Amino acid sequence: MLDEPTADRPATRRLPMAGLTRGKRSPVTCHLKCDDACARPAPNPSDGPTFREVASAVFSRRSLLRGAGAGALIMLGGALGAPAAAAALIGSSTAGPTGSGGGAVRGPGRLRFAGIAPVPADVDALTVPEGYRWATVVRWGDPLFDAAETFDAAAQTPQRQARQFGYNNDYLDLIPIPGRGDREALLVANHEYTNAPIMFPPAASAEERQNQRRVTKAAQGMAVVHVRRDAVGQPWRVVVGSRYNRRITADTPISLDGPIAGAPILRTKDDPSGTTVLGTFANCSGGTTPWGTVLSGEENFQGYFRTSGAFAADKRYGLADKATTYGWEEVDPRFDARGAGYETEPNRFGWIVELDPFSPDQPPVKHTAMGRFKHEGANVIVGRSGHVGAYMGDDERFDYVYKFVSTNRMKSGSGSAARHANKSLLSSGSLYVARFTGNSPADQIDGSGRLPADGAFDGTGEWLPIVVDGVSQVPGFNAEQALVYSRLAADQLGATRMDRPEDVQPSPVTGKVYVVCTNNIDRGKAGAKEGATEVNPRTPNRDGHIVEITEDGGDLRSRTFTWSVVLVCGDPAAAGTYFAGFPHELVAPISCPDNIAFDSRGDLWIATDGAPSTLGHNDGLFHMPLSGADRGYLRQFLAVPREAETCGPVIRDAEGTVLVAVQHPGEEGTFAAPHSYFPDYVAQDADPGPGQWRGPRPSVVQVWRDRA
Ligand code: FEO
Ligand code: CA
Ligand code: CA
Repeated sequence: MLDEPTADRPATRRLPMAGLTRGKRSPVTCHLKCDDACARPAPNPSDGPTFREVASAVFSRRSLLRGAGAGALIMLGGALGAPAAAAALIGSSTAGPTGSGGGAVRGPGRLRFAGIAPVPADVDALTVPEGYRWATVVRWGDPLFDAAETFDAAAQTPQRQARQFGYNNDYLDLIPIPGRGDREALLVANHEYTNAPIMFPPAASAEERQNQRRVTKAAQGMAVVHVRRDAVGQPWRVVVGSRYNRRITADTPISLDGPIAGAPILRTKDDPSGTTVLGTFANCSGGTTPWGTVLSGEENFQGYFRTSGAFAADKRYGLADKATTYGWEEVDPRFDARGAGYETEPNRFGWIVELDPFSPDQPPVKHTAMGRFKHEGANVIVGRSGHVGAYMGDDERFDYVYKFVSTNRMKSGSGSAARHANKSLLSSGSLYVARFTGNSPADQIDGSGRLPADGAFDGTGEWLPIVVDGVSQVPGFNAEQALVYSRLAADQLGATRMDRPEDVQPSPVTGKVYVVCTNNIDRGKAGAKEGATEVNPRTPNRDGHIVEITEDGGDLRSRTFTWSVVLVCGDPAAAGTYFAGFPHELVAPISCPDNIAFDSRGDLWIATDGAPSTLGHNDGLFHMPLSGADRGYLRQFLAVPREAETCGPVIRDAEGTVLVAVQHPGEEGTFAAPHSYFPDYVAQDADPGPGQWRGPRPSVVQVWRDRA
């Protein structure tokens, strides 16, 4: 049974600020999401191992594996079945046009809106434009398999969590179920990380602490949720118990495929075949393929393993000999990679995972052909030849942008034969890394972000081959080494060091590719590795920027391209910001772009992650046309609540609907003293009573136009 919509959300809530330090990302986000990656020097080429060290590490691991016992393959399915319907909570916290970025009511299709004003970082409300409403579609803890299994934050078990919607939703898409008249769809979400201090009461015993660690293993990964609505424009509701509903956790069997599946470097004592990994986690962004599967990026996997520190190549990935924040090594021995037979377990993470939401019994697949790094996500486009290209970012300061091109062509049609064939397109192909060359005289690159007269920085570039059709192109690397240690292979090729590339996504309308660089606080820093370059023109890069790539000949298989900087984020009043040439006084402030999406017109929608600690505003979703007179006219569409980031935007302009994943609301609070009450806003000022909880729940929300 589904809950009915309830009362309107309260108006804006402001709470005291605590723990926010301007100019720095929230320390909680840094610690839990990225394993404090920014607190350490970026693990870049100059402090990484030489290839001789890598080869020696590979050799050592092989020796170790030869000596390891061939233990039984553990097949943990996790408990199946579970919980209750999602409450559809209707909200109306809105804001009208004010100040910069407001003004004109514009937008594609039915998504016309007047931009909202920036929302101060102490406001615990989802803010949408005038004339729009919002509702919760699904929240952390909502049951997916049995409505009777309601959420009780104080009594979570790993078994219950594996039957509920997971924590910290990031990538999101809504894929219509064919033949259901656009009233039924599969919502697919990533669950990136967990935040124990606000998920659980303090552990009263060692046993309780171990239980909480196991719950966090079940709260990450992915979810497939069957959703239904009465009519277009109405809120989506969870179909509890649907045969499509699914949770992928840190214990779900996942196949390894591609050119190096089964290689010694991927074998452990639990999986001597090197073809089946248990689980996926740190799932950040992703992409939906033209054949209807979902790709998920395994990003900050380094924060989950304790390693010996003896393998030089591991350093380049940030792996270290230290107790992890999550403590999974205390409940599952494979997360202690110091143990005999588990030295290679970390090599089985950091891949792109493909999930077919329409085949609930089929294991997801990790594609070794697409390389191993801190994958933000992967976004696929079909070329004129029928080959497919996947564009990918490695989210680390001074790391790289990659492209995968399939060996085979996509088969048309929706029949099972075509679908089956297309699901192997990412199993064989070629992996490239980008090198950008600027057109400007070197003396114009001074780190101020100031641009050449009347325009953006621009230039040419090339895709440097790492592996072509399964064969390494990097001197001294075989395919196995080049794909498991893609960062080192790319170092050797001289790829361009970028400012934390997040989503790298081709426009389905123009085929141009947008590289979202979220920020890089170390660029140009004294003692840091590199100052400003044309494609990363600001030092330090606090607010991020977006680069537009045009493949030569419009062919995704091209080895060369041109590029320009299309957006340099920040307060538009500040020097060194750039909005594709649009007048600064008319655009909205924006900082730390992360996830992007396109509407049917090809306009760009940008979700942010980090604005509270740079501009002092809540993160949000922004709209920016890429063509015509409005190119660069950036306006804010919504703001998420306090201490949250905006993820996974799904733009359905024809029906006037947007979905966003609201990740880590109130992340700096505690279980006893929440910083956010999103999305339910119940019992904020009263004792919530036994079995009830008032704290924040990461959730997927729907925003829609409530007016003709
Ligand atoms: Fe999980 Fe790169 O953001
Ligand atoms: Ca991201
Ligand atoms: Ca993010």
